[in-house]
Amino acid sequence: MNLVLLSFFKVILLFGCSFNNSQQEPSREADALLKWKGSLDINPTTHPLLSSWTHNHLNNTSCCHWFGIICNKFGFVIKINLTDSNLKGTLQNFNFSSFPSLLAFDLYNNSLYGSIPSHISTLSRLTYLDISRNHISGNIPSQICFLTSLRILYLERNYLNGTIPPEIGMLISLEVFYAYGNNLSGSIPISIGNLSNLTELSLHGNKIIGSIPHEIGKLKLLRELHLYENDLTGSVPASIGNLSSLTFITLFTNIITGVIPSHIFNNLTNLEDFEVGDNFLSGYLPENICLSGKLTWFTAYGNYFKGSIPQSMRNCTSLFRVDLQGNELTGNISEQFGVYPNLEYMDLSSNNFFGKLAGNWGECPKLNVLTIYDNMVSGMLPPELGKATQLHILDLSNNLLVGKIPKELGRLKSLYNLFLNNNKLSGKVPAEIGMLFNLESLDLTANRLSGPIPVHLEQCSKLRELYLGDNIFSGIIPFQIAKVRSLRNVDLSQNMLIGELPPELGNLILLETLNLSHNKLSGALPSTFQQLISLTSVDVSYNELKGPLPNIKAFIEAPIEALEHNKGLCGKNTNLKPCHTSKENRSKILVMVSISCTLVPLLIIVGVLLIYKKRERNTHEQGLIQMTVTFFEPCGHDGKRVHEEIVEATENFDSKYCIGVGGYGSVYKTLLSTGQLVAVKKFHENGGVASKEAFESEISLLTRARHRNIVKLYGFCSHTRHSYLVYEYLEGGSLAKILIDNVEAVELEWSKRLNVVKGLANAISYMHYECCPAIIHRDIASKNVLLDDEYEAHISDFGSAISLDPNISNWTPFAGTFGYSAPELAYTMEVNEKCDVYSFGVVVLELIMGKHPGDLILSLSASTSSSSTPAVHQILLKDLLDQRLSPPKRQVAEKVVSIVNIAFACLQPSPQSRPTMKQVADKLSTSLPSLSEPLHAITLRQLLDPPTWIY
Ligand SMILES: *[C@@H]1O[C@H](CO)[C@@H](O)[C@H](O)[C@H]1NC(C)=O
Ligand SMILES: *[C@@H]1O[C@H](CO)[C@@H](O)[C@H](O)[C@H]1NC(C)=O
Ligand SMILES: *[C@@H]1O[C@H](CO)[C@@H](O)[C@H](O)[C@H]1NC(C)=O
Ligand SMILES: *[C@@H]1O[C@H](CO)[C@@H](O)[C@H](O)[C@H]1NC(C)=O
Ligand SMILES: *[C@@H]1O[C@H](CO)[C@@H](O)[C@H](O)[C@H]1NC(C)=O
Repeated sequence: MNLVLLSFFKVILLFGCSFNNSQQEPSREADALLKWKGSLDINPTTHPLLSSWTHNHLNNTSCCHWFGIICNKFGFVIKINLTDSNLKGTLQNFNFSSFPSLLAFDLYNNSLYGSIPSHISTLSRLTYLDISRNHISGNIPSQICFLTSLRILYLERNYLNGTIPPEIGMLISLEVFYAYGNNLSGSIPISIGNLSNLTELSLHGNKIIGSIPHEIGKLKLLRELHLYENDLTGSVPASIGNLSSLTFITLFTNIITGVIPSHIFNNLTNLEDFEVGDNFLSGYLPENICLSGKLTWFTAYGNYFKGSIPQSMRNCTSLFRVDLQGNELTGNISEQFGVYPNLEYMDLSSNNFFGKLAGNWGECPKLNVLTIYDNMVSGMLPPELGKATQLHILDLSNNLLVGKIPKELGRLKSLYNLFLNNNKLSGKVPAEIGMLFNLESLDLTANRLSGPIPVHLEQCSKLRELYLGDNIFSGIIPFQIAKVRSLRNVDLSQNMLIGELPPELGNLILLETLNLSHNKLSGALPSTFQQLISLTSVDVSYNELKGPLPNIKAFIEAPIEALEHNKGLCGKNTNLKPCHTSKENRSKILVMVSISCTLVPLLIIVGVLLIYKKRERNTHEQGLIQMTVTFFEPCGHDGKRVHEEIVEATENFDSKYCIGVGGYGSVYKTLLSTGQLVAVKKFHENGGVASKEAFESEISLLTRARHRNIVKLYGFCSHTRHSYLVYEYLEGGSLAKILIDNVEAVELEWSKRLNVVKGLANAISYMHYECCPAIIHRDIASKNVLLDDEYEAHISDFGSAISLDPNISNWTPFAGTFGYSAPELAYTMEVNEKCDVYSFGVVVLELIMGKHPGDLILSLSASTSSSSTPAVHQILLKDLLDQRLSPPKRQVAEKVVSIVNIAFACLQPSPQSRPTMKQVADKLSTSLPSLSEPLHAITLRQLLDPPTWIY
């Protein structure tokens, strides 16, 4: 310690600084500012903010009236404030020694780069230095130690690297020190303990190693200590207990080990926020954690804490969010918690709690999430739980609960996930379950529930997942279940169900998995099962079923294990005998996929020509049925047969097969006799010329545009009564549909969303740059982005697309979807490819936000023109992110941030300012820059500047 101090003085002596500011000419300051202005990358004559920085004849010696400059009464500059001034350049040519009186230097939020010059040390009177939110790199110079008057030092959100110099300890007046969101490495210098006036220390989001120095305990005035998301090791120093002003301590996501000394909390009478999750801590949770009575946020998930919940938490009515998931906590859960009027989130999962569940949880009026899965909680479910009417998620699975499900749970009207699986619940499911109108997922698997399958579930119209397997439900499967059209996954296996399957189940056309195995179901599988075209997995084994299998993929391809131990199933499945009675003599299997076939474009062009020809003739020969059916199959399949099959399979385009309606046509999900699913887009019969043109344009463009992220056209039919296109069917459905669905949206996690963005960018870039002439889609919108079962994006609906011939100016009527089309389309009809770039930007924001960005785009663009900082700029990116997903971490977070930055660039009001799709696609396929700061601290303002690679 002394050695370190000694070396500081050596540095001072060697540096030999002597500040002589008595004979300073004010004009020297003006000259220095002009010299620096001249060195900036901006065009100094046009930069609006610095236009006042110029010598004029009346005031040629003073800079005191210049923008951002404040002088004292003697005419010396005491403050330079250039926040948010769009400055680009370095500080190397800033002559600090010309400003002996400077007290405050504020460069917050510019685009300055290069390093911090060591001669900044000549600003000996400086009390306030803010160079945060720039692109400053290199080390923090040790000469910073000469700024001994400094009280506020903001260095955050830059690209600083290297270690924090130990000389920082000489800034004894320092009150606030932020260096978070850099690339700082090395350890926290012990000299930090000298900063006895320090109240806030934020070093999070760096790569700092080593342990938290014991000396931190000398910072008696410290209120905020943020060290999270670093690589800190060692234990939590007991000296933290001296910091009686401490209000926020965030240490999560480090490698901290050891026990938290319990006595340290005896002095922390102001604590509001204690976050130590995602470390390697062990021992007991601190007894006096809520001594302050002000604790709101307490997270310690993912550690090795043992023992019971601290006494002080029982009456800690201030609690708002508690996450203790994934520890080794134990004790009787009914005795450890009180009543919390402000509590919204409580996660006690994956611990060793035992005892009964207290009714107290029902007295927490704001409780949103209560999860206690994977414990040893026993006893009955308290009826009082029904009072927690704000509950959205109740997960008590994998415990030892007994008794009935109380009817009072029917009062939880907001509930969307109810997981009580793997307990010992018994009795009938109460009729009140039908009152959970918002329920999306119900899991009662592996209990001892009996009686009939609750008919009242028919009222849960949003239910997607119904898991009732491994119970003792008896009786028949009630046909009413089939009224819940939203059902995707149903498991009724391992019960005592009898009787025949109700044919109504065939109405569940969204059903994806169905497990009815290990029951006593009898009779034949209803023929209506033919309609279960979304079904991918089925299990009917161990029943008493007989007769033919439904002719759908899920059954045809079912493994023997899913069909065995029945009374005689037969049909199209390699594991079963064919049915003797079958008179099926279906047409040959039609294979329609052939992307590699080079003949295809030719065929299509011929096809299109044919349509034209025939249409011409048709005007003369009224009544004659015209038909051109072309399928892309090199060996020449019978188009007419395919056509007949499509008409038959859709029962002549019955609305029950319709999965979407667009401007020019409706899309039908169609199962061909081969078991192959296709999407058939039938153009409106009375659609007029526009509809016809859309049809033809789509054929000609889609046959040229062949890319893995563009939907594949298999064929088309032009008929006097119906014209339709046949595409590949994409399991995932449209992005728009996925994003409005809470369950599907959560499955589309961040990395998958990033992949969708990449796929989209590649496809649009391909259309703009690799198709010749280029194709402009003009209707990029989330409804036209389809996902396959691997969440790969495919652009569809080329009805509005046009080919861009450079020799033709494109004066074409407005196309596109409201909310996605570029602003220039409102005042000019001249289209270039930048309108797709804009729409792409909207879709990207929609993916990131989970909903259409709406007015946000307008408020962002309205405000870029002025130099002020409107409220929208202060919005934190994290608050914009789809809240249904947990925030992205590390590399994924970095990508999310740059993608939002790119999206904002794509949304520039002026088409010329937008990047090209090629730039975007190229950028997305290379590695993106790393985060300059933790995700949760990034504001929109920081993402508004276009990335440098655009220009
Ligand atoms: C000259 O400077 C004074 C203050 O120093 C200021 O009030 C005045 O507006 C300036 N005049 C011009 C023409 O810039
Ligand atoms: C600089 O100006 C901004 C905006 O006007 C203000 O918020 C900030 O506090 C100022 N900085 C100093 C050091 O006065
Ligand atoms: C810090 O960054 C500079 C360039 O910005 C680089 O030359 C240097 O190697 C880096 N130092 C460390 C310790 O990473
Ligand atoms: C610390 O703060 C107090 C109160 O503001 C002040 O009197 C004292 O001079 C400061 N100490 C240093 C070393 O600046
Ligand atoms: C706790 O604070 C009190 C005064 O607030 C002080 O007397 C005591 O020494 C402190 N204890 C520790 C361990 O710092």
